[in-house]
Amino acid sequence: MRIAVIGSGNVGRTLAAGFASRGHDTVLASRNPRSDELVSWSASTGVATAEPEAAAAAAEVVVLATAWGGVGEALALAGEANVAGKVLIDVTNPLRFTDRLELAVGHDDSGGETVQRLAPGARVVKAFNTVGFELMVDPGVGGGPPTMFVAGDDAAAKAVTATLAAELGWAVHDCGDLRAARLTEPLAMLWIEHAIRTGQRTHAFRLLGAPDVATATTEGGAS
Ligand SMILES: NC(=O)c1ccc[n+]([C@@H]2O[C@H](COP(=O)([O-])OP(=O)(O)OC[C@H]3O[C@@H](n4cnc5c(N)ncnc54)[C@H](OP(=O)(O)O)[C@@H]3O)[C@@H](O)[C@H]2O)c1
Repeated sequence: MRIAVIGSGNVGRTLAAGFASRGHDTVLASRNPRSDELVSWSASTGVATAEPEAAAAAAEVVVLATAWGGVGEALALAGEANVAGKVLIDVTNPLRFTDRLELAVGHDDSGGETVQRLAPGARVVKAFNTVGFELMVDPGVGGGPPTMFVAGDDAAAKAVTATLAAELGWAVHDCGDLRAARLTEPLAMLWIEHAIRTGQRTHAFRLLGAPDVATATTEGGAS
């Protein structure tokens, strides 16, 4: 698939290199795609860099991996027409830093739904937000693949996301419609709290006793 990953932080670089390693035509989109740092990263990984508008225009799947405060600007730079009708995988967590780290959105809304409102024509799927970037590709946590939680309103878009996650080494759980991002974003906070308390970033969630939708999925259809 042609994949544009927007945001050149740890998450964007990890996922872009991961998708490319599985044979996808992947571009890392940044506001500064020709910075010395990204030119060097591109040379070492073989993944091209581009500006968000060009990357999104050429992509079939767009991955949003920016800081929460940059979501609106990143989508504006990508261009509404360039994400319309496309799978838009939202990896962000709506984090707010006050006296402690917390969600800026929750209970009756979510970051995923916010992204959908900002990109109304896109087929938004929430995924990859419940684990640290270090484990997003080939999560070697022992005892079998951990669970990637996906949520979205478009079944075919979720199936595409499930396949991509499975290729990276995940079992996939379909949490239902995008509203379920109200559940998976707090789950990310549970992951983060454990990382902060222990100083470890080697943990991942596994849902026991539920089928892996990626292996059960036939074309067009995670349920
Ligand atoms: N870090 C993790 O382990 C982890 C795990 C799961 C989910 N997440 C979520 O994934 C997202 C990315 O995480 P990260 O650690 O890679 O974040 P990050 O380093 O804080 O930011 C990622 C990128 O966002 C872009 N960005 C920042 N402000 C922007 C703005 N105003 N407009 C447009 N783009 C802007 C920048 O890309 P350019 O400068 O290249 O444009 C930046 O490199 C966050 O929402 C985070 O909560 C993180």
